[in-house]
Amino acid sequence: MTMKIQFDLSRKEQSFAKTYFTFDRTSLGGIPLSDAETAYARKQLKENDLVILNRYNELVFVVFADALKDKGIFPEQCRKRGNEISGILRQEKIREIDIVLPETKPEAGIAVAEGLALGSYQFVKYRSANDKKQWNLEKVNLVGTKISKIDINLLAVMVESVFIARDLVNEPGSHLNAVKLAESFEEMGKSAGFTSDIFHKDKIEKLKMGGLLAVNQGSIDPPTFSVLKWEPADAKNTKPIVLVGKGVVYDTGGLSLKPTKDSMDYMKCDMAGGAVVAAVMYYAAKCQLPLHLIALVPSTDNRPDGNAYAPGDIVYMHSGQTVEVLNTDAEGRLLLADALSFAKDYHPKLVIDIATLTGAAAMAIGHHGIVMMGNAGEEIFSALKLSGENVFERIVEFPLWEEYGESIKSDIADMKNIGEREAGSITAGKFLEKFVDYPWIHLDIAGPAFLNTSDHYRTRGGTASGVRLLIDFLRHLV
Ligand code: BES
Ligand code: MN
Ligand code: ZN
Repeated sequence: MTMKIQFDLSRKEQSFAKTYFTFDRTSLGGIPLSDAETAYARKQLKENDLVILNRYNELVFVVFADALKDKGIFPEQCRKRGNEISGILRQEKIREIDIVLPETKPEAGIAVAEGLALGSYQFVKYRSANDKKQWNLEKVNLVGTKISKIDINLLAVMVESVFIARDLVNEPGSHLNAVKLAESFEEMGKSAGFTSDIFHKDKIEKLKMGGLLAVNQGSIDPPTFSVLKWEPADAKNTKPIVLVGKGVVYDTGGLSLKPTKDSMDYMKCDMAGGAVVAAVMYYAAKCQLPLHLIALVPSTDNRPDGNAYAPGDIVYMHSGQTVEVLNTDAEGRLLLADALSFAKDYHPKLVIDIATLTGAAAMAIGHHGIVMMGNAGEEIFSALKLSGENVFERIVEFPLWEEYGESIKSDIADMKNIGEREAGSITAGKFLEKFVDYPWIHLDIAGPAFLNTSDHYRTRGGTASGVRLLIDFLRHLV
């Protein structure tokens, strides 16, 4: 069961924590504090952006947010304060909090609520007894007139979608194979209202998805290919927007085995792209987003075995092109390429793939951003970058210059699946580019998808990076 936080317009029961705002470090007008508290808060605010007043029966938080900061930074500051508050509620085992929305900048309160909720996420399913299980954030009351029930619902569903994606990423390979992943998508579809069509091995064979089948050869579990659809009557687009997510439930590297230690430890996160696109579908359906959307998730694990595909093999892809496999650890591009080629049949308006594709992306920019490539053009690039700033899942664009294509040329096939060591993220992008004939964006989330230590409200483990980005991007299309 995914954690669920209730958001409400005003408080109904007694809550033991309240949050107020100030945009000025000295004047605390309008905040119901005693003179002594005001003096204390002023002093604290000289050096802190969050003041905690511990009253005998309640905690009072005063958040300072610098309204002069630019568009993306301001809400991010607020989310971070929200996350700090979440840490204190956890310590104090307080499950409900009021956030008093500032009249002049209600968005500050909403951003605090967002950071508070996202930072309260925990994955405790496999812990039999511990203190972490004893606390949950249950309820956030947004007090004030500047927010509607609709806005609150959008926030609640967004948080829920992030939690669903985080849960899926945190689920270990021992408990999540390709079939189970597809079943989870089906359940999400039933609950939210999107349809799901799961292709099993026989259908995948009929469709000649050679890339997905090759990666699956070493697995004891069959592959799946999930097709999730949301097509509301009031859709603004006739040609669908297709989201493609990498669904490698566990990546050992296959016969080109990843070196222990470390490099394999967190490879349960290799289906993060798949989790992200399914979570976005969940949001779209739950919030009745008027957009025609399709999500595709090719899924398998990648393992060595007697029958595993091997370096030197030639694979016939869904598109009919041939690939010389020179490294079985470059598996993601093989199954994504099949999905991208399959997407042509939908005559899409735009295709966005999202994948934990290359360690090189993480090496280049770390976990603070998403690497983007594509052919969709400036307008889409800037819209995505802007969404990236809005939700602070920032995007860096890498080039797809022709010259990078040289390194994936093969003597004996149409292409090979690895290039040279340098610019590894780009050669992966160049590979995918060979399978698209429509406006396309590729997002490499290998850096931000999974964290070993939390980064504010991006909690340890699966972060669901990409969910808030794509939600914001799609919402701006309607
Ligand atoms: N799943 C990995 C990429 C990855 C690395 C994701 C680190 C998250 C964190 C991907 O399948 C992979 O192994 N890529 C190889 C490609 C190489 C063999 C060309 C890589 O990045 O080393
Ligand atoms: Mn790999
Ligand atoms: Zn992988």
